[in-house]
Amino acid sequence: MEKILIIDFGGQYNQLIARRVRECGVYCEVKPWTAPAAELKAMEPIGMIFTGGPDSVYLADAPKVDAEIFTWGVPILGICYGCQLMAHLLGGEVTPAQEDSAREYGKTVTYYNTSCELFQGLPQEGVSWMSHGDYMARVPEGFALAAHSDACPNVAIADEHRRFYGVQFHPEVNHTEYGTEMIRSFLYHICHAHGGWTMEDYKNTAIASLREKIGAGKVLLALSGGVDSSVAAALLAEAVGSQLTCVFVDHGLMRLKEGDEVEEAFSKWAMNFVRVDAENRFLLKLAGVSEPERKRKIIGEEFVRVFEEEAKKIGAVDYLAQGTIYPDVIESGTGAAAVIKSHHNVGGLPDCVEFKEIVEPLRMLFKDEVRQLGRELGLPEYLVSRQPFPGPGLAVRIIGDVTKEKADVLRLADFIFRDEVARYGEDQNLNQFFAVLTNTRSVGVMGDGRTYDYTLALRAVTTSDFMTASWARIPYDLLERVSTRIVNEVKGINRIVYDITSKPPATIEWE
Ligand code: XMP
Repeated sequence: MEKILIIDFGGQYNQLIARRVRECGVYCEVKPWTAPAAELKAMEPIGMIFTGGPDSVYLADAPKVDAEIFTWGVPILGICYGCQLMAHLLGGEVTPAQEDSAREYGKTVTYYNTSCELFQGLPQEGVSWMSHGDYMARVPEGFALAAHSDACPNVAIADEHRRFYGVQFHPEVNHTEYGTEMIRSFLYHICHAHGGWTMEDYKNTAIASLREKIGAGKVLLALSGGVDSSVAAALLAEAVGSQLTCVFVDHGLMRLKEGDEVEEAFSKWAMNFVRVDAENRFLLKLAGVSEPERKRKIIGEEFVRVFEEEAKKIGAVDYLAQGTIYPDVIESGTGAAAVIKSHHNVGGLPDCVEFKEIVEPLRMLFKDEVRQLGRELGLPEYLVSRQPFPGPGLAVRIIGDVTKEKADVLRLADFIFRDEVARYGEDQNLNQFFAVLTNTRSVGVMGDGRTYDYTLALRAVTTSDFMTASWARIPYDLLERVSTRIVNEVKGINRIVYDITSKPPATIEWE
């Protein structure tokens, strides 16, 4: 299978490069810069991409590759640090940019030499995304200048004979106009890729490598019913069938019908599906607790305990599988960010189970790729396109203490809201929408009588990364319909409000 190798020098957009290459229909793998040259060569790449990175090539311990790589006759595209490294290793000179010269950050107007293979067919001018503090003072022999900006004469360099290309900007980010076209040119015109790689190929390769890795071993996975763990479960079920045991802890704080839906979706595989009904345990632990962080901690701890008990019944396993996806990898990698909410995920379990190794079959995939893989594996659409749902479930959507009665009230109200949104087709425009049971009661009048019931809040947001979000301008008609239905159908609610705060300053969830 034709493949592109992406050599990772630690830049923040590296996985995005992989994603772009795959979007262009070419399989690629990301390898750390420490991978031995022999290993890379044995993979027979049709081309390599050197990523960006935070270092400076002229420093003694800067990440490097074996210069032997340049003798293989394999085309290389160096991006930012990768470009500077190539220049440095091939005899050019890279220096810190002087104050007012070629240090560039952000959107920069760039002028392309469109006779260069990389830029062929593009307009001669476009905006590119720069982020570099170093400057190529001298380009290596054999290289020509292929693009420039107002501040920098060598924004791109090319040795068309050896098929080595370097760009100081980031073609992989959306801010770079024509960036994907450049990557496509590299793949198809320079590396002569045939393309045609699809998610089906990815699925088959992943299944084959899981089978090879796991052999006859036993695998355990904590299934939450969310997209990631569900797709990981389906992939493993397809790969190793009955060697897989999925433990689905139903903490009683799921949405309406959710537990049954998850169970139903996995009934077609010959794996072991353990559904633990732990509603009473969780509610008992949560009784009287209203502080949000405390609720989260209790649920997280109890989850581990339940899982541990189930795992003990299963006995030692060889592999613990997790539905880690690439954004999780980035998030846990930074470490410096302030804790706004302690997110409870199915991760963080390894301490309590005996196992040899962790498998994370989705580690390389972005969310939309995970969904695509789920479809490829035949998971139902309601699971695959499911909106995010916090690990602690409805507990963080019931403000104040959690009881079964409140959970039931919220479950039904939330179901009606989601049902009406979908009926309206408005779900296509929203990234997350749900109901929150506020801890506020107010006076109402129903029939001829006074009521003193709960206020329900509706929340609907649009967002691309869930780090920031805007409150959604959903139609008044829809709001009215939802309000009428909920007040009529759900006992215990007599007032509905719509949350019109964005994130920041609010968060998406209320707790
Ligand atoms: P916030 O409320 O912080 O949420 O704006 C951002 C996104 O994360 C989801 N969320 C969670 N997801 N475990 C999860 O897996 C959690 O504990 C958790 N808390 C919030 C939230 O639904 C939103 O999509």
